[in-house]
Amino acid sequence: MAFFYENNRLKIGTPDASADVESLARSRTAGPVYIYDLDDVERRFQAMNKALGDVRHTIHYAMKANSHPAILAKFASLGAGADTVSGGEIKRALEAGIPASRIIFSGVAKTVAEIEFALKNKIKQINVESPQELERIAEVAERLGSRADVAFRLNPDVNPQTHPYITTGFRENKFGMDESFMPELVAILKSHSDHLKLRGLTMHIGSLLFDLGVFREAITKTIAIHRQFVAQGFPLDRLDIGGGLGIRYETEDASSEFSMMQAYGTMVRELIKDLNVELLTEPGRILVARAGLLVGEVQYIKPTTNKTFAILDTGMHHLLRPALYSAKHRVLPVVAGVGKPNRYDIVGPICESSDFLAKDVELAPLKAGDLVAMADAGAYGFSMASRYNSHDLPQEIVVSQAKPL
Ligand SMILES: Cc1ncc(COP(=O)(O)O)c(C=O)c1O
Repeated sequence: MAFFYENNRLKIGTPDASADVESLARSRTAGPVYIYDLDDVERRFQAMNKALGDVRHTIHYAMKANSHPAILAKFASLGAGADTVSGGEIKRALEAGIPASRIIFSGVAKTVAEIEFALKNKIKQINVESPQELERIAEVAERLGSRADVAFRLNPDVNPQTHPYITTGFRENKFGMDESFMPELVAILKSHSDHLKLRGLTMHIGSLLFDLGVFREAITKTIAIHRQFVAQGFPLDRLDIGGGLGIRYETEDASSEFSMMQAYGTMVRELIKDLNVELLTEPGRILVARAGLLVGEVQYIKPTTNKTFAILDTGMHHLLRPALYSAKHRVLPVVAGVGKPNRYDIVGPICESSDFLAKDVELAPLKAGDLVAMADAGAYGFSMASRYNSHDLPQEIVVSQAKPL
């Protein structure tokens, strides 16, 4: 449990050790604030680790979900690695104490400078998106006199039934490669054998997924191609199955997420049992989404003939998911109100009608000055925030054992 009500006040932590959200939010000078519960992140990491059991594995946290230094440092201390998608992320991961030997570099448009940075820092693996990129990696490795450990990203062509913007393993997506690329990739590997080493295959089919059958299908396809490479004399010793497990934004009940992690682990262990590989995973959302809240202050209540707007000092620039993906986050008054509920659209200060955080939600009457929290905003919240309209970024507070760090 990361957030709950006690005596009508929103708390962070557990009933045994909690901090008051209003006190935390008001302890800062002003403005919206993200609040994260580090202990919840740890619990989830441990659950995932346990689900993967005693197979040789490393969890590479997909830090695009939330790259707060304290969260990265926590993952480092737990033995996790990082899945990165830019030179900036590699740098942040290293600064937070995640060793290079546990850093993977994914991402679709790796520049020469980023590849050089990755190789100079001797990171664990570069996940390759195209033959052109593989050529580029070989050239950079040759120039540096080094050898790149690579994995080929397979596009297994499965439709994972999620928002179209976050499917990545369907044939229409820009990500990865299908089997037809394989001869070309093998030719490049052979002509640069001193500077490239193929360690395995990688896949990531999308985000916010619940159907384990789709994972099964994609992993099975990937394993079939893995075996083809092994048969061709490439001794692959890794298999990277990406991230993608979802959370149920519509409910505070997170128990199904823990059982899903367990079932996912059991399925994966069964699927790879005959392969002699290190299993690599790249979860993001499921580890951190539940651990975060975005708290904003009501500036105005604006009743119109159609509806009533609660206008906050935070909006799409701080939490883009509702505007971008039509995502629905639960709205939690920081102090539970009293009185007959009203219907509100919760909107922000940005000069666009896409600037909403929630629509048509029923809440006890709000007034200017009240604090309102958007639940489950720990993933793809601050990391997607911008300074659009020249607003400041929100502040961030990380709490552990009921104390801000
Ligand atoms: C390559 C890759 N790995 C892992 C992830 C993490 O996904 P999720 O947060 O859904 O677990 C992403 C998300 O976009 C990704 O692109």
